[in-house]
Amino acid sequence: MSVRSGQTMAARASKRAVRQGGGDRERLLALAESRRDVVRLGRGDPDLPTPAHIIEAAKRALDHGATHYTHWQGQLDLREAVAEKCRRDYRVEVAADQVIITAGAQEAMYVVFQTLLDPGDEVLLADRHYTSYSRAIRLAGGVPVFVPTHEANNFVIDPQDVEALISPRTKLVVVVSPENPTGAVIPPDTIAALARIANEHDLMVIADDIYEKFVYEGPPHVSIASDPALGDRTIMINGFSKTYAMTGWRVGYMVVPRELVGPVQVVKHTLTICAPAVSQAAALAALEGPQDCVDEMRRIYAGRRRILLDGFEPLGMGGRWSRGALYVYPRVPRDGESSYDFCVRVLEQANVLIFPGTAFGAGEGYMRVTLLQPTEVMREAVSRMTAALPKEPRDATRDEGHHGRTA
Ligand SMILES: Cc1ncc(COP(=O)(O)O)c(C=O)c1O
Repeated sequence: MSVRSGQTMAARASKRAVRQGGGDRERLLALAESRRDVVRLGRGDPDLPTPAHIIEAAKRALDHGATHYTHWQGQLDLREAVAEKCRRDYRVEVAADQVIITAGAQEAMYVVFQTLLDPGDEVLLADRHYTSYSRAIRLAGGVPVFVPTHEANNFVIDPQDVEALISPRTKLVVVVSPENPTGAVIPPDTIAALARIANEHDLMVIADDIYEKFVYEGPPHVSIASDPALGDRTIMINGFSKTYAMTGWRVGYMVVPRELVGPVQVVKHTLTICAPAVSQAAALAALEGPQDCVDEMRRIYAGRRRILLDGFEPLGMGGRWSRGALYVYPRVPRDGESSYDFCVRVLEQANVLIFPGTAFGAGEGYMRVTLLQPTEVMREAVSRMTAALPKEPRDATRDEGHHGRTA
């Protein structure tokens, strides 16, 4: 294979989102690779096992031939179970033919943007976000438009900021609550205001509720999908990875207005034909089986969150504004030090891996720390950091965050 002179393969990759690649997160992972005994609080992958009844259901399904393609939208009983969940959790009427089972919520987000965006179409989303969103928007030729979020408002997007950024090219608003990386939970009145704005400006809304079961304090989770103002403007994206500790099964779903099912088919079928059959059987068992396993996971994560917050407070890192998801989003204790430099310091001096906020959009000054190691390992991480880092005096002005407007 020949490459035109002076042009590397990477440079020939035509998509901006592809060329971006790499970044702080990868540099840190490479640094961690060369060390031993690192406590890893970086990746968003639960340490807890998939509940046993789900694994058993998948084994039985394999024995009964779940080794072939299913319908491109997914097996009917699973789609019916998803529709029933939407009725139960959001009080929205959804039919099984609007549900599309995907290879994780990740595939759903890619499919949505490929289906809906024309080049130059704008999508509004939080400046601190799961970066696959901005990448998937760019890969579809769209333009991510970032809504600023602030510690003083617990990193919740402000509907007025959203409205101010709407242009004639705006097509979609992405609402993720609880949010990755900040753990921001959007309060019910803010959800209602966002729904009203979407309606008034004729925008579609993506409701990503993948962390819905993990709220630890403050207002409860409300899905924007449950807001009656939206009617059929909503595309729901959700999955099983977080709620049931099933990241490796690669199964999630989207629920779309009926008229979008046809256009979605073109993209979804081209990508993966259908979600893995065995994982669909597991997902069905997850939805239909006992839910106390989810309550137990939430209880465990809540305990770990407390360990981190109690440990971070004397170090001047705070983090109480992170009220949900599987993360805490503390700040760099020293003014002037970059997130990346602080993470390197934590890695080199405490042997703990955490990710800089800059790996998740506009996150300079903050870090993302996961709740996803066994509780004793979380304690070990805090005691290593406490031993390695100086105690920072509490700065009252920087500490006002949790009293913010929508708290
Ligand atoms: C907000 C958000 N949506 C979607 C995903 C993708 O999840 P899945 O494993 O279902 O593809 C993630 C993964 O971290 C996420 O944080």
